[in-house]
Amino acid sequence: MNVNDEDEMKALRIALQQRLEQLLPVGNQQDLVCEAMRGGTLAAGKRIRPLLLLLTAQDLGCHVEKPGLLDLACAVEMIHAASLMLDDIPCMDNAMQRRGMPTIHRQYGESVAILAAIGLLSRAFGVVAEANALPPGVKTQAVTELSSAVGMQGLVQGQYRDLVEGKQARSAEAILLTNDLKTSRLFDATLQMAAIVADAPVQARQRLRCFAQDLGLVFQLMDDLTDGVSGTGKDINQDNGKSTLVEMLGAEAVHQRLREHLRSADEHLASACDKGTSTRRFMRAWFDKQKAMFGLDWSLPEC
Ligand code: IPE
Ligand code: IPE
Ligand code: MG
Repeated sequence: MNVNDEDEMKALRIALQQRLEQLLPVGNQQDLVCEAMRGGTLAAGKRIRPLLLLLTAQDLGCHVEKPGLLDLACAVEMIHAASLMLDDIPCMDNAMQRRGMPTIHRQYGESVAILAAIGLLSRAFGVVAEANALPPGVKTQAVTELSSAVGMQGLVQGQYRDLVEGKQARSAEAILLTNDLKTSRLFDATLQMAAIVADAPVQARQRLRCFAQDLGLVFQLMDDLTDGVSGTGKDINQDNGKSTLVEMLGAEAVHQRLREHLRSADEHLASACDKGTSTRRFMRAWFDKQKAMFGLDWSLPEC
């Protein structure tokens, strides 16, 4: 990543943060649900999904400042933040820390965390509907992508499978399907929205679907491999007692799978975005950082 990339990424992160603040305004002092919605979303997340949406749209020929695009990116981040709040509550993962802070239910109580997550989910769909700069057809397609990623073909189904199957032995295929539902589907919706706004051809959209699938699996495998290390902003050893691929196959075999998915992800992305390399460069810089931070091992081709 060169200096211009770093400046561009910094500017995009600031734009995202400012727009999220506007879209989730401060409520009155007693309104803990509003505070929790803001707290969970505005906390220091990596913003991978919204940045991917903006950069991919740019690579597909759309100006990154195209009106309405930033709001789609914020909607995805709100959905992601809602999924993390729900994932952390006691009846799910019972997590203590998220984004380097006490989890939302620890700060505000479980009922507030549940309401804040529902509030964020509905706000996300409202933000898409209210993005007046985007044509109605684009908004309808964006809502379709998002609702599919959240519902029984996505996060909800993945989370349910993880809860009912995670504490018992399960096949590698079952784990991969759960990871796909929990994580790849929202990446997919994110990238499809970029492609919809950019009016990308069907081949590019298909390649982005493949990229999203690999990327989601990479994310979950990396999450499993770093479960026992500090510095993630999350609980250490959260996966104790859970059937994961690391527990089943061992860390080296998971590392190998991770390298394969990463290479495949990069190839799909290069083929989907053959005119721009912003997304690939961003991904590469981000994965290099993870590699250095957590002692992981892979190499990606230059772009
Ligand atoms: C965490 O996602 C959930 C997983 C899919 C492992 P991120 O790692 O993107 O979390 P934030 O947004 O940076 O907190
Ligand atoms: C994260 O799942 C939440 C969703 C993807 C819905 P995990 O439980 O696997 O990830 P962390 O470790 O809590 O971020
Ligand atoms: Mg969790």
